Amino acid sequence: MYDQFRNSLSKTTLCLSLLLFLQPFTGATTTLQPHILPFQKGFTQLFGGDTNLLRSDDDNTVHLHLNQYTGAGFRSSDMYNHGLFSARIKLPSEYTAGIVVAFYTSNGDVFEKTHDELDFEFLGNIKGKPWRFQTNLYGNGSTSRGREERYTLWFDPSKAYHRYTILWTSSKIIFYIDEIPIREILRNDETGSDFPSKPMALYATIWDASNWATNGGKYKVNYKYAPFITEMTDLVLHGCISNPIQELSTESCLETNTQLETIHYNNITPKQRTAMKRFREKYMYYSYCYDTLRYTIPPPECVIDPVIRQRFKENGRPELGHRHHRHSRKRNHVLSSQIYEIQDED
Ligand SMILES: *[C@@H]1O[C@H](CO)[C@@H](O)[C@H](O)[C@H]1NC(C)=O
Repeated sequence: MYDQFRNSLSKTTLCLSLLLFLQPFTGATTTLQPHILPFQKGFTQLFGGDTNLLRSDDDNTVHLHLNQYTGAGFRSSDMYNHGLFSARIKLPSEYTAGIVVAFYTSNGDVFEKTHDELDFEFLGNIKGKPWRFQTNLYGNGSTSRGREERYTLWFDPSKAYHRYTILWTSSKIIFYIDEIPIREILRNDETGSDFPSKPMALYATIWDASNWATNGGKYKVNYKYAPFITEMTDLVLHGCISNPIQELSTESCLETNTQLETIHYNNITPKQRTAMKRFREKYMYYSYCYDTLRYTIPPPECVIDPVIRQRFKENGRPELGHRHHRHSRKRNHVLSSQIYEIQDED
């Protein structure tokens, strides 16, 4: 469907839209200067009241607080049929066990049974231990097929802002930290209908996940250290605003979707690809693709990297997984319940 529309698009329109799109960027082929959206222009508060969601005077920065009363969160006011979703984020410091900061896209409130979702989830830790995070995706309600990957970071995310980006086009999804792609998911026969395809909104939240966030719930949020504050700034939403109920919005989204294919985030350079490979070999410590106890046969989209497989064997992760999976099999398979049973190393 999309290809048909694309092919029928005249070259003039294409050139024009490219020109318009590239205009605001300096050196568009190398660095994207994202369109920064003030909070009021693109976002709506979800929870946290006046006390736990604070906006800067220029409205480009939002502070989300978690205290003993509540966390805080906001979402994009609109839903997008593909898009670039990005923010510079600074996470809380000190003792952050039990806390989750989530930056994700979803349409779960509209499509209860067939929702799509793309996640960055930052998992707090005890004092002196580094933050960890995971990425995940669901497509068309594929909640029984979690596709989690978990990683450590090469920097302290509470010390400075770093840009976290989700690019979602009709052909691929790429998660970025700053300019480094850390995970790429292609739409192909293997991903099938598990590839998100319906309009999603962007969400950002901080909340108490004491029951699973740190070492499978071993360490709870300690409110002696409250408030826990995450700062988000220079928010970017670039995509085709869509009504999720109207099915045939494809045509009106052509231009924006073509733009998404041309921005540099959509084209990983050889240098970036090397960096991605290095990141994954060094910082990824869990991937559903290598969890043979959870998926006896890796799901079809998995491409097994022998270096990573060897490392996962060496650090004994599958053994740990084994114990907890047997335990969790007795439970209902609610959202990602399995991965949350996996214990992190101290
Ligand atoms: C999504 O799931 C629903 C219900 O299971 C199904 O009817 C529909 O065809 C699926 N959509 C796609 C794009 O596969």
